[in-house]
Amino acid sequence: MGGTVTGVIDIRPMVPTDVPGVFRLERATFPQPWSERVFQDELEQPGRSYFVAVDEIGELAGYAGLLQVADEAHVTTIAVTSEARGRKLGTRLMLHLIDAALAGGARHLTLEVRTSNRSAQELYRRFGMAPVGVRKSYYGDEDALIMWVHEIDQPQYGARLEEIRSTLG
Ligand SMILES: CC(C)(COP(=O)(O)OP(=O)(O)OC[C@H]1O[C@@H](n2cnc3c(N)ncnc32)[C@H](O)[C@@H]1OP(=O)(O)O)[C@@H](O)C(=O)NCCC(=O)NCCS
Repeated sequence: MGGTVTGVIDIRPMVPTDVPGVFRLERATFPQPWSERVFQDELEQPGRSYFVAVDEIGELAGYAGLLQVADEAHVTTIAVTSEARGRKLGTRLMLHLIDAALAGGARHLTLEVRTSNRSAQELYRRFGMAPVGVRKSYYGDEDALIMWVHEIDQPQYGARLEEIRSTLG
């Protein structure tokens, strides 16, 4: 994505000036990318939490977003550049989303994922998410698996999060 991601990667809230870079990664990652306008609109809406991961020279390494309605939080997107994958950045972005969800009073977390996307499903399973159903042709060319985890505000889930954090070193 325009450069090689290096060194320490920091995660911070997404701001409007991040959107062009986020859109480049979105387009390179997803067959039906969101437009820049959709990201800009998301940043202006209430109940949203969006984060970017950037390296020490400012190169974008990933991003993720969350929409919260009442006590339900919905992971809307998550992506890591192909060079930065497999180094726990997806895990760190999920932790940021869940921390934001908890801070907003969420108790349950859900998302949709392509039925073929085993690596993302495995990441979500680590976070206690389980498949509960399928949305037919959600992506046009493919079904979506709907995943949920409940009671993320309870101590048992807090312990899971601590265990995940402890793997980050
Ligand atoms: C899904 C994605 C965000 C994961 O990011 P990542 O930084 O590579 O994830 P992590 O390094 O934190 O991996 C966490 C766990 O996810 C699972 N995982 C990640 N990549 C995997 C792969 N290629 N195969 C199998 N499991 C994988 C593993 O369980 C992994 O734990 P481990 O490192 O202990 O084996 C990244 O692969 C990506 O951007 N994919 C393209 C976009 C996408 O599919 N987004 C999800 C849309 S719903």
